[in-house]
Order: sequence, then C-alpha cells, then structure tokens
Amino acid sequence: MKRREFIKSSSLKAITAFAGASVFLKACHTEEDMIGEPNWIVEGSFDRPLIIPSMTNGTAFLNAQLSTYEILKGRSSATLSYANGLLGPTIRARNGEIVNVSLQNNLSEETNIHWHGIILPENMDGHPKDVATAGGSLNYDLPIIQRAGTYWYHPHSHGSTAKQVFMGLAGLFIVNDDEEAALNLPSGEFEIPIIIQDKHFEGSNLDYSPNDDEMMTGYLGEQILVNGLHAPYVSVSSEWYRFRILNGSTARVYNLGLTGGIHLNVIGADGGLLNTPESVSSILLGPGERLDVLIDFSNLPVGKEIFLVSNRFSEYNVQGRQSFDLLKFKVDKTSTSSFTLPSSLSTITSINPNQASNVRTFNIAKILGGEGGHGGAAKHSINGKTFEMERVDEIVNAGSTEIWEFDNMLGEEIHPMHIHGVQFQVLERTGGRNQILASEKAWKDTVLVMPGEKVRLIMTFPQYTGMFVFHCHNLEHEDDGMMLNYRIE
Ligand code: C2O
Ligand code: CU
Ligand code: CU
Repeated sequence: MKRREFIKSSSLKAITAFAGASVFLKACHTEEDMIGEPNWIVEGSFDRPLIIPSMTNGTAFLNAQLSTYEILKGRSSATLSYANGLLGPTIRARNGEIVNVSLQNNLSEETNIHWHGIILPENMDGHPKDVATAGGSLNYDLPIIQRAGTYWYHPHSHGSTAKQVFMGLAGLFIVNDDEEAALNLPSGEFEIPIIIQDKHFEGSNLDYSPNDDEMMTGYLGEQILVNGLHAPYVSVSSEWYRFRILNGSTARVYNLGLTGGIHLNVIGADGGLLNTPESVSSILLGPGERLDVLIDFSNLPVGKEIFLVSNRFSEYNVQGRQSFDLLKFKVDKTSTSSFTLPSSLSTITSINPNQASNVRTFNIAKILGGEGGHGGAAKHSINGKTFEMERVDEIVNAGSTEIWEFDNMLGEEIHPMHIHGVQFQVLERTGGRNQILASEKAWKDTVLVMPGEKVRLIMTFPQYTGMFVFHCHNLEHEDDGMMLNYRIE
C-alpha cells in the first residue's frame, strides 16, 4: 500500500480524529509488523562520502533559490537552498564580532532568516512579521554576544517555515570564544558538522504535502539525510573527533548512539559547553536541538566500521518504534593522537529559582477544533491559543528572571518547545522520563516535552526589548499556529 493511502485508511480506523496514525499504530507490536507502514525508514548503501558545508566568516551572502541536488544516490530532486544544491554555508563567528548577512530572496514566496539560539535585537531576530517578499532582500547585522556554541539559521515566515526548511533552507552558525579555544578540542578535519533531516519523496523528488493527520503528528520522512545526502559515510583516523550535531528535521526525534559499544561524550548542547563531559550510550535529540559530542576512535583498527544510529525509544509513538543507521564511520588511517578528554569544560552557574519574579505555565496539550469541535482540521495550541502576528500574548521585563513551565501531561504528541531571544536552564521534568538528560545540564533554547511530561525552565531575559516568539519546533505544529508572541519591555 502506498504511504498516502495508508495514512488515509488508518485515520478512518483511528479512535479519535486528531490522534491519527500514532494511535492506530499502537496496535502493532513487532518491527516486522511495521515494515512497509508509513514512515518506515529506508536505509541506503552508505557508499557516498559525507559532504561538509562550506564555511564563511564575518560576512555571508545567502541567496534563497530553487536548486537541484542528488540527495538520493543517482537521482536528483528539486530543492531550495542558500548556496547551490541544498542547505547553506556554515557561518562562523567569534564572540564579540558583528556578522553581516545579506539575504536575497529568489523564491516565489516570502522568506526571512531566524538565527536560532542567538540572542539578538528584535529587528534582527527573524520574527515572522519581518520578511522579504519574493524577489526582495534583507540585510542582517548581527552583534554576536554569545557563548561559544552550535547555533543554526532557517526561514521563519509563518505558514511556510516547515516547507522551506524541509526543501533545504537551513545552515549552521558556529560561535567560538577564548574559553572554548583554550580547551584545544579536535578541530579542522577532526571537527565535523552533522545536520540530520528526514525526507519524504515522491519518485525522485522531495515531496512536502502533509495531510491533516500529518499536521497533527508532524511530517515524517523515510529517508534520513546527513548534510543533505542520504546514507553517507565518512572516513576517519583512529583519533578523537568532535561532531556538532543538529536535528534539522521538521518533526522527527532521534535517539542517537553508536554501534560497537562506543559512547558519545556529550560536551555541549544548544547554548554551548557543559560543565563536564557526560558519557552516554544513547541520547534523544528533538527538532531544533543541538549536541556537541566527542567520539574516541583511537582504539579502533583500520578497516573498522561504526555507525551513528537512532535507537528505539517508544512503544507508543510511531516515531520511536524503529532503530536505524544514519551515517557510517570508516576507520581508514592510524594516528597517534595525544588528545585526552578534558575533565572540566566550562562553568555554568545555575540560576537560583528564588530570583524568579514570575512563574508562567503553558498548557501545550490542548487540541483545538477537529471532530466534535467547530469543524475544520484540529490544531495544537499553547494555552488554547494559536498564533496571531500582532497579538501580544505575554509581557516580560527586560533583565528579569522567570520560570516557564510547559505542560504536556495530558498531551499525546511530542513537543520540542523553543523560546527566541533567550537561553534557559532546565530545572526539572516531571512525569514521563522524570529526569534531566545529560545534554540538558547546559544552556538550552529548545527542550523536548514528551507526552505525559511537564518541564520547568528558568531564564533571565536580555536587555533587548521588543516582540519575540516562542513555539513548538515541530515545524508542522508551528506553521499550524502552535506559537505565541511575547514582548520584552
Ligand atoms: Cu528554530 Cu523560531 O525557530
Ligand atoms: Cu529560534
Ligand atoms: Cu508540537
């Protein structure tokens, strides 16, 4: 059965209109049962070399354009890109620099750029109200006052963010500083960016066409891309490597790990370095989140092959029921490296909850409309509201400290919640996993809130005043309105 037909028929059988395919799939119990079902990952042959996006410093010219790219081996697809093909260059800046980016919009619709995780003045942040019309352009002067870390950029025009990102518009934005430089972490060819995205194809072409059910669950693809290629490999030396990993998918969560019993040493997350490295055998990474990891290949013989994989993580959600390979590492050279994992990386001072002047709770579990409602497709919401461009939903004071809670206790979907204009700390997660992950002992801008969970965050707002958004980074949810405005004043 073809995927789209399956989704249609499964939704007829689904218990409720809005839970769609994910509820139906609860009935399945083995991986074998699921082969051929919607979104079942199709692994490739891992025989094309990984492509590293080009790098630019200080200034960048981004030309959003229609392109073509050989994402699947031997088959090219229409794409969107900022360069030539897919994705955009990696922008690298030092803390304290001003980066100038000009965006030329050669798409047939509006677009803009948001600098995800970077704290910027309102008019530079890429709020959906600030867009370039088709054929137009925008100029960004970005004052970088920010810890070293792996940030990223992508379009943020309301209603078309998901499609534009899915079709290929995204790139990394790396900030370096003196503290990080002093650690002498693996660099140059030993520092590799990994942008993970899932894609759906019709024939050879990328296809973005979510139906109502897929707006509720998120649009999942069957092919997993790393840096724009399906199933690539990368040759490595028997040496330590640093990988900066971005989940740039619209909706898919990965439970990342390695084969061969090798651990990931997490050294950083969204907003830069942790206090100390955390060794994990697997770790969840939601849409919009980043991980900075060190991997020790130094004891491996030449010829050894290791895979970056996503492990199963849920029986209940269609996303979590499969494990699959993403990228192959081929050890092809010996090396006599002297690198050792630092025991201390940085100092993250915990914000004291007593400093919070306000607590806001956001219900992210409520579904609006759909069956039994006032007709039309069901939508996710925040506190029962969906996005309106001009409406101010929350007002916070510049420089103040607040606690924000995202409550998905009664929800059935995964919501990676993201706040613009600030980096936060995760205070606690109750329900569900009931814990803070290794990667969450860091500054964060996006946090996974699984069904049945409530996550409590603390943050100090910057002095930049104006209107910013916060939203679910499941980009189907965001485009469908799971986003609100807040104003700093
Ligand atoms: Cu990466 Cu408002 O998003
Ligand atoms: Cu953002
Ligand atoms: Cu969501």
